[in-house]
Amino acid sequence: MKKIAILVSGKGSNMQYILQAIQNRILSGFRVNLVISDRCCSAIQYALKKNITAISLEKTDKKFISRKINNILVKDIPYIIVLAGFLSILDAEFCEKWFGKVINIHPSLLPKYGGKGMYGMNVHQAVIKNKEKISGATVHYVTKDVDAGDIILKKSCKISSKETPMSLSQKVSLIEREILIQSIKNL
Ligand code: GAR
Repeated sequence: MKKIAILVSGKGSNMQYILQAIQNRILSGFRVNLVISDRCCSAIQYALKKNITAISLEKTDKKFISRKINNILVKDIPYIIVLAGFLSILDAEFCEKWFGKVINIHPSLLPKYGGKGMYGMNVHQAVIKNKEKISGATVHYVTKDVDAGDIILKKSCKISSKETPMSLSQKVSLIEREILIQSIKNL
């Protein structure tokens, strides 16, 4: 079984998509062996209910949190590390050590609307404000430059004239689910 470690900061819908895909055998040969968060969040509660080892850390500077996460990961080395709504930035040392093993799901068509400060609803608000006609989601490898690693998969959706940041986030969430599972399958 290929082990997946998931890093989270919030609700954990992307983490839940992965768990469902494993349960439904859409993702066969994988198991989630570890969930780590950088703050108290409902994703951790969900993982614990599913009897997955779940560790909640405190949000600190990137060097400190990167070392802490590294020290946990080395005890049971995963096949891949998925950032599923993980909002802390990992430092260069971490990204280099785990290069090629860490993927991130981002709620825009990178390289547009990526980088520091561009996460979650901030992205959708900026997209609507700029009257974009399309948006979507991207799965990419994680490198020391935020949201700038090689793209694995990306998929777009149309933005209607009545779109709000909230309705767009729901549309993008469906895309995230699809391309995240597909990316893990393809790895
Ligand atoms: C997701 O939309 C994910 O793409 C985004 O945070 C949300 C987390 O939702 N990630 C980023 O913005 C990373 N820059 P979830 O906790 O319900 O999976």
